[in-house]
Amino acid sequence: MKLFKTIKQLQEVLGGDRSNKLTVGFVPTMGALHEGHLSLVRRAGAENERVVVSIFVNPTQFNDPKDLKNYPRTLDTDLTLLASCPCDYVFAPEPEEMYPEPDQRKFDFGSLERVMEGKFRPGHFNGVAQVVSKLFDIVSPDRAYFGRKDFQQYSIILKMCQLLQLDTAIIPCDIVREADGLAMSSRNSLLTREHRAVAPQIYLILQEAILDSVSFTPAEVAERVVGKINSVGLLQAEYFEIVNEHTLEPVNSWEEPGTKVGCIAVFAGAVRLIDNVIFDK
Ligand code: PAJ
Repeated sequence: MKLFKTIKQLQEVLGGDRSNKLTVGFVPTMGALHEGHLSLVRRAGAENERVVVSIFVNPTQFNDPKDLKNYPRTLDTDLTLLASCPCDYVFAPEPEEMYPEPDQRKFDFGSLERVMEGKFRPGHFNGVAQVVSKLFDIVSPDRAYFGRKDFQQYSIILKMCQLLQLDTAIIPCDIVREADGLAMSSRNSLLTREHRAVAPQIYLILQEAILDSVSFTPAEVAERVVGKINSVGLLQAEYFEIVNEHTLEPVNSWEEPGTKVGCIAVFAGAVRLIDNVIFDK
């Protein structure tokens, strides 16, 4: 496994791989790696001859400067974890390498960016698209791997590829959870002991929502989820929305066609957690 800090170095080795017609799988991350990330890396290893993992805490996607400052940075541990995975190249640039000039690009994702995370984190998805498009430009992957944990991000990346006419295949990967059901996240390490103890309630309440969907309308299910989260104590729901998996439009009736996804954002103290479940109807 080789570590690169500059675009030029990474592109040199990738150029050699390309001329040998090797397929390249890419896993973009912000580091503080856990099993969720590593599951993407392993899948990339099973499906490609070369695997690139990027580790870059992208400033342009943070709408809250405190969140950017507090975001965990654990490069040494990350490299140790990656060394035990099928990972060939790690790209860990400094911000100046990625943004020698401020990135002024504006993407129009239409209604996809006006709901849920887009509504509560203005500019977030534009920043994600800035960095992912730049990384795709550098790596030119055949396949890129994204977790369903960030469900709306996955939809945005699909749309970005369509807008930019990229032919990288976007591969969605299942959510990896702790034994108690909490979706793995780099931000979990920032939880206090008290908040960590109640955080698994999020997934339990989402599972109850699936059971509730037999007897309640989508709006009633949503109201019950928010009520239950807020009555846990120490948890504060920011939103819970049941949306169509492709359009992210709110679902008004279970009879509507298409897969429905229930997406939630919850504050556990200062830490914001997201999760989602699929309503198999
Ligand atoms: P980050 O939060 O580090 O996540 C990197 C990738 O790992 C994303 O595709 C995310 O959905 C996936 N992931 C995180 N937790 C997961 C879990 N518990 N199970 C499965 N997959 C999980 O998402 C980002 O970074 C950034 O926005 C990025 C795309 C790198 C752009 O900066």
